[in-house]
Amino acid sequence: MFARRFRCSSLALLALAVVPQVIGAQDFKKDVIYQIITDRFFDGDATNNDPPQSRGMYDPTKTNWQAYWGGDLKGIQDKLPYLHAMGVTAIWISPPVDNSNKPWMGPDGKPVPYLFAPYHGYGARDFTRIEEHFGDAKNDWVAFDNMVAAAHRLGIKIVVDFSPNDTNLIGTGEHGAVYDNEKLLGTYDNDTKHLYHHNGLLTDWTDPWQIQYCNVFGLADLDHDNPIVDSYIKKSITQFQDHGVDAFRIDAVKHIEWGWVYSLADTVHRHKPAYIFAEWFQDGLNDKFYPDAVKFSNHSAIPLIDYPLGLATRAAFAYNSSFALVQKTLDREDKDFADPNGLITFVDNHDIPRLLSINNNRHLLDEATAFVLTARGIPVVYYGDEHYEHNDTNKGHDPYTRPWMSSFAEDTVGFRLVQNLTALRRSNDALAYGTMTPRSVAQDTYVFERRFANDVILVAINKNETTAARLTGIASSLPAGSYADELGGLLQGVSLDVERGAAPEENLIASITLPPHSVSVWQHRTNANGPAVGALEPTEGEPGATVVLNGVRFGTRPGSVAFGSAGAKVVSWTDSQVTVRAPAAHDGTSTVRLTDDTGKATDAGAFTLHRARLIPVTFTVTNAPVSKNSAALYLTGDTAELAHEQTDTKLAPGPFLCPQAPTCFLDISVPAGATVHFHYFTVDKFGAVDWQEKEPHAYTVPAQGTGKALASIH
Ligand code: NOJ
Repeated sequence: MFARRFRCSSLALLALAVVPQVIGAQDFKKDVIYQIITDRFFDGDATNNDPPQSRGMYDPTKTNWQAYWGGDLKGIQDKLPYLHAMGVTAIWISPPVDNSNKPWMGPDGKPVPYLFAPYHGYGARDFTRIEEHFGDAKNDWVAFDNMVAAAHRLGIKIVVDFSPNDTNLIGTGEHGAVYDNEKLLGTYDNDTKHLYHHNGLLTDWTDPWQIQYCNVFGLADLDHDNPIVDSYIKKSITQFQDHGVDAFRIDAVKHIEWGWVYSLADTVHRHKPAYIFAEWFQDGLNDKFYPDAVKFSNHSAIPLIDYPLGLATRAAFAYNSSFALVQKTLDREDKDFADPNGLITFVDNHDIPRLLSINNNRHLLDEATAFVLTARGIPVVYYGDEHYEHNDTNKGHDPYTRPWMSSFAEDTVGFRLVQNLTALRRSNDALAYGTMTPRSVAQDTYVFERRFANDVILVAINKNETTAARLTGIASSLPAGSYADELGGLLQGVSLDVERGAAPEENLIASITLPPHSVSVWQHRTNANGPAVGALEPTEGEPGATVVLNGVRFGTRPGSVAFGSAGAKVVSWTDSQVTVRAPAAHDGTSTVRLTDDTGKATDAGAFTLHRARLIPVTFTVTNAPVSKNSAALYLTGDTAELAHEQTDTKLAPGPFLCPQAPTCFLDISVPAGATVHFHYFTVDKFGAVDWQEKEPHAYTVPAQGTGKALASIH
């Protein structure tokens, strides 16, 4: 009885609580994101520390690192002025959804002698309600909405860590059970609706099927091709948008059915303006799945958290490796990724030891932070780095990378550094939108230039602790003249003289001496002629989708925007922002071009037009000509999502997964209601096509839900 009444009242609340987003939610390039583990940040509401439905998971002594410590959404709200003063314009909060109410006995089902609670949020039980330790015992949205509204009043965007791959641990706690607004949806142990995969624990991290279809760390793996799961997850993520959320960090995307995630991004983009990025953990450029990650990101329109660059950055600053690895990583990624400036960059995060736990040198952390805040990509500052927080137990590995935030003082070098560079990012577009050109790369020194239109920023780092470095003959597109360090010597930076060179792009720094452990930042801004686009968002959608172009000098009188040869309807036009509707044109990827009203034109980036909203379909073939380790199976067909008949493996969906060859399958998101024609092909280990079907198959995609296209090869 109580439950029924409560459900009604929470629905009423829901209907009222539509929180507006920050204007421009779809473009994060000018933002700096601050990552918070909500439980470890600040306790703003002592009444939710030990809530009745999950009593006993709170440790007021903060000595059990696997227990809740009291941080909550009100705590974040209370500290917004601190974050605002630091200049961060977005905060990424750990998963706020209702998590398992029962403690887990430990990973892998092994009992451990201490309490093990989902304080981090990666153990969902109900994606439609807010965790009681972070909000209130009713699991309602009040604290969340208050926090979002307060952040938005300060112009701070909210990024929610959304973890749709799995629910909570099996074999302990709540045994993976999942609820929809309090109502039990299903349980792992009695899975009558087939909501979960039942393929056991992920053990082989090199097997793409296991990676997507087995239980990661023993968490109950959801089957997103089940229409109940598909609609539940999509309903939950759009519910967050209705509560004002501006962006999502999709957790563990490597472990979700890759092809399904395209339809998730499409659902979000269709619902309201939002930025989506995803965590695809990689060991660097040589990671076995690096090519898959690139393909996924480029085709799903989901930028990734840039692990290769993050690890190279940490290698340089924490392990004293050369800047050459950083540059090599940038060279490769900037070639591979469609929009390198949209990738998410970092020094530290909650899954890896803090840099100070590896190398306890504050200079190096500040230098690494300055690098990330000035290099290409959207930077994340992990909470507490500005205060040099670290706990080195077990070399700082999880959970010791998530300490309690011990101070909110605003006078550390780290705080002032972030403050300084967030302001620079807002005033000089080279940081957000610019190219990144290496001007000098060595073991300990690195000089690079960012440039967007006529905005230039030059950065010089010397990470050597004791020895100054004299560099000579460095080219720069800074105009001839003298430049003061924009950081005002905060990191021992120096001023700079530039001489006129052979060409405007090639002026000359005859000589510069970089002090030990220093970062210098120099900038220049002028007004040039002609438009320049820095961001086009989103980069996928259907005819009629709202697309925003941000940049400079578009003029105040409307010009035109074309997607390939198709003109787009202009909705609004200002000097720095143009909004258009994607035209009704042939599906596929085309270059968007903006022309101002004087006829000056510029490219804005690529956009992929779908015929209709995307529906995830599992394509299955029962007699594939593959054996487990030989040829790889792909598919091509007559829509943009099926690569328009091309057999380039960078474009065509595949390789298929064949855990039980010759039956192979793959999730692909395709346009709702369309009849698609497709045929299979195989490639050898060099990527050359060695067989393809002659006659195509036809399949009509359902108008909603999920689909299954079953075929045997002719
Ligand atoms: C990746 C998250 O970042 C990590 O903290 C979490 O434990 C796993 N995904 C499982 O959700």
